[in-house]
Amino acid sequence: MSELKVGFIGFGNMAQAMAEGFLRTGALKPEQVYACARNWEKLCRNTEERGMHACRDAKEVADSADLVILAVKPYMIQEVTAPIREELKDKIVVSVAAGYPFEKLEQALLPGTHHLSTCPNTPVAVAEGIIVCEDKHSLTGEEFQMVKDLFEKIALVETVDTAHLSVAGTVCGCTPAYAAMFIEALGDAGVKHGLTRAQAYRFAAQMLVGTGKLHLETGQHPGAMKDAVCSPGGTTIVGVASLERSGFRSAIIDAIDDVENKP
Ligand SMILES: NC(=O)c1ccc[n+]([C@@H]2O[C@H](COP(=O)([O-])OP(=O)(O)OC[C@H]3O[C@@H](n4cnc5c(N)ncnc54)[C@H](OP(=O)(O)O)[C@@H]3O)[C@@H](O)[C@H]2O)c1
Repeated sequence: MSELKVGFIGFGNMAQAMAEGFLRTGALKPEQVYACARNWEKLCRNTEERGMHACRDAKEVADSADLVILAVKPYMIQEVTAPIREELKDKIVVSVAAGYPFEKLEQALLPGTHHLSTCPNTPVAVAEGIIVCEDKHSLTGEEFQMVKDLFEKIALVETVDTAHLSVAGTVCGCTPAYAAMFIEALGDAGVKHGLTRAQAYRFAAQMLVGTGKLHLETGQHPGAMKDAVCSPGGTTIVGVASLERSGFRSAIIDAIDDVENKP
């Protein structure tokens, strides 16, 4: 891995989060990372100031890197890959684009290209992400293991079948936005009752980290975790009942349904 060159085509929120995770964990050294984007000045700020390589275009990334990560918006994948299909043929190509499973990416690349479709989430930046990988891919066993080893430095890496890639991507990739809304709402509530905003956000964020960790480490059912906080006639159950009245859980299920049913 110390020799691996990783290139990002597109260096926006997701690519920068992944690069940040790789550098922060020492999985990659800055000089192993190459990237291109549309806005050259912004790209230089986001790469060269950290010792990563700014590339003029996608061809330069593909020529420089062993592992090429497609990190443009899904509707741009076809356009950015079309002129560099030859260059990508001998590389390991990983897509992070939502809604780009194996068969769709196969259409954009030359036959025989080694590629894998994934969906990451932004907490990869602090090495607490999730990267969902489609089980159908055309990497060799050795290439897949190498990619998995690299991604495991910044994320929980799990494989799902093609039919579940979309919903797994939604539950992992979209939800940091919803979790952030929850933190923001708890912050507003804390401020309403006199906490400082910074402290209220810190409490809410650490509560989410800790609750997630408690589940992961104990395997406790979420319902049992809720029950453990609700003493009979106590205060927490009052809030639970209030959230039920407001349709808290069905609002979350509806949000995932709406994303999955988006045309
Ligand atoms: N953000 C998330 O939480 C998340 C989660 C899961 C999956 N994803 C996937 O990650 C991908 C990127 O999303 P994002 O949120 O990072 O989007 P973003 O912040 O808008 O970044 C897109 C990047 O693509 C660059 N770009 C646009 N046209 C290009 C071209 N012709 N050649 C090279 N680069 C070009 C943009 O450059 P400029 O900045 O210079 O315009 C920008 O750096 C998407 O496919 C999305 O589905 C994102």
